[in-house]
Amino acid sequence: MKEATIKVKRYDGEKSFIQEYKVPIEYNTTLLSALFKIKDEKDPSLTFRAQCRSAICGTCTVKVEDRHILACKTKVKDLLDENGEVLVEPAGNLPVIRDLVTDHAVFLDKLKDAKAWFVPKEPWEKVYPEDLKKFDKETDCILCGACFSACPAFQTDSNFGGPINFVKIYRFWKDKNDALGDERIKIAKANNITSCVHCKYCTFMCPKEIPVEQDITQLEFYGKQKGIIEDNQQFGGFNNFGFGGFNGF
Ligand code: FES
Repeated sequence: MKEATIKVKRYDGEKSFIQEYKVPIEYNTTLLSALFKIKDEKDPSLTFRAQCRSAICGTCTVKVEDRHILACKTKVKDLLDENGEVLVEPAGNLPVIRDLVTDHAVFLDKLKDAKAWFVPKEPWEKVYPEDLKKFDKETDCILCGACFSACPAFQTDSNFGGPINFVKIYRFWKDKNDALGDERIKIAKANNITSCVHCKYCTFMCPKEIPVEQDITQLEFYGKQKGIIEDNQQFGGFNNFGFGGFNGF
């Protein structure tokens, strides 16, 4: 058992401020457990969002330095600096309602723009395991918004759909029983897919290890090949990551 200093960037509806709490932690103490301990034993006014505590519901996303994480999946010991301190902030790119609670309506509205639901095709085609493999990882998305929180593309384009949006577009585009087919590429274009800078932060931050940037690259590449998206932008964005592979494309 040792003591950690959890600093929380709080917001009371008018102003932001940092508040410090000393919390005893053990090897397996998650950040969410530590936040509950603070709320239960030290400061009931501390506000955060959580439900499943099992990395399933996607509600506990927060920011710690450059990491956008599920508080329930991350151990405090892995976040502490050399002084035994950690600063916890609300997820990025979203309006803060109070303390660590952000307004998810921003990306939920964008999901409506992306038509992020299955549109059944008639007649129905038989589905084989290899068909499901094409979007197996993407079905793991729990809408936690870690990718959305980390995405730098919003700094230059507030109308960018966001990585979460394109994961959903990709998932249904790859489903042979979805009726929209390449209409989904047009939806990706309408959501400004070419504003992606291919930094891969979304992929690095996804707690479900979905290859988010690779999905965006495949949608964009296919759209350009088919003439649906104008080919006036180089892949690879501002860095040298390049494609990162077109596996399975
Ligand atoms: S509490 Fe459900 S994902 Fe963390």
